Amino acid sequence: MMRKGLFACAAAGSLILGGLTACGDDGGSGSGGSDTGKVGVILPDTKSSARWATADLTYLKQAFAAAGVTADIQNAQGDKTQFQTIAEGMISSGVKVLMIVNLDSGTGKAVLDKARTAGIATIDYDRLTLDGGADYYVSFDNVKVGELQGQGLADCLAAKKYPKPVVAELNGSPTDNNATLFAQGYNSVLDPKYADGTFTKGPNQDVPDWDGAQAATIFEQMLTENRTIKGVLAANDTLGNAAIGILKKNKLNGQVPVTGQDATVQGLQNILAGDQCMTVYKAVKKEADAAAELAIALAKEQKPSTATSTVKDPTSGKDVPSVLLDPQSITKDNVKAVVDDGYVKAAELCVPQVAKACTEAGIS
Ligand code: BGC
Repeated sequence: MMRKGLFACAAAGSLILGGLTACGDDGGSGSGGSDTGKVGVILPDTKSSARWATADLTYLKQAFAAAGVTADIQNAQGDKTQFQTIAEGMISSGVKVLMIVNLDSGTGKAVLDKARTAGIATIDYDRLTLDGGADYYVSFDNVKVGELQGQGLADCLAAKKYPKPVVAELNGSPTDNNATLFAQGYNSVLDPKYADGTFTKGPNQDVPDWDGAQAATIFEQMLTENRTIKGVLAANDTLGNAAIGILKKNKLNGQVPVTGQDATVQGLQNILAGDQCMTVYKAVKKEADAAAELAIALAKEQKPSTATSTVKDPTSGKDVPSVLLDPQSITKDNVKAVVDDGYVKAAELCVPQVAKACTEAGIS
């Protein structure tokens, strides 16, 4: 069983182009015993958020290694064809469990269908694959993430005391169900404020693939057409940083609050510098641990007991057994919480440009 697994792994490796060696991220030594199956994990890309190549990869590896379960963790680098190739390689290498972060629901579903046909248990990690029929789903309460963003922006704008400020919205990828949920959350806060005249509804656009470069182009266009933009609801730190770059170019940074998500080093530095209003911290370690716990049980052919809630797949109408975690709002006042939780290291965060702000925030 082990030898067959390793051979299939190496064979699949020759098909993989790009930075990652197939099976190079094996999380365990295979000491899980002959009846414990291997787990395959496909992460989406390394550009849309820093989290995937750093936090998720690291925490998942650690969780599988600690359990002595072999995990083949690969990254599709934003390429849907590569995503499917990796999945096929994992399926033919005999994984018992396949965990994916889809690049869109269509390719995600194609992969989940193939896995199911091969008798492999499936987990949607972070993003629900619409109509995908995964056995389990592990994520955060994504509507709550959006609500925190909407409320964070409202608080920052209230502090600025601008009369009826124009708010621009940079939504996440239109093919990511999470982006839909985030928007549902922040618009539940912003729409009533547009309606009662507290804020003025400005331009609103989706950013394909959560791509920072496209976000910068889109936001530059928004600002050119509407110089009075006074607040930016950016759906994650990548999009927020893109907007901040354009605001800097126009000497408007710090005057126009911008939101984010993921508590990336860059996002937290933008907050400490006064250029970003808030971010949302999602304790990825908890998410990775919860997903690995499910995968490990399934790899041992045990019935998991931790997915106690359900999420309704809006396309299929099916209830998916789920683990949903709680996100946390981060502003200049509590950046320290992210460091204290071990998600970001003070040495990495507190570069000279923000050293003073770090000290003021009690981070050392
Ligand atoms: C994740 C976010 C991430 C975004 C871009 C979403 O599905 O929930 O954490 O910032 O994708 O990768």
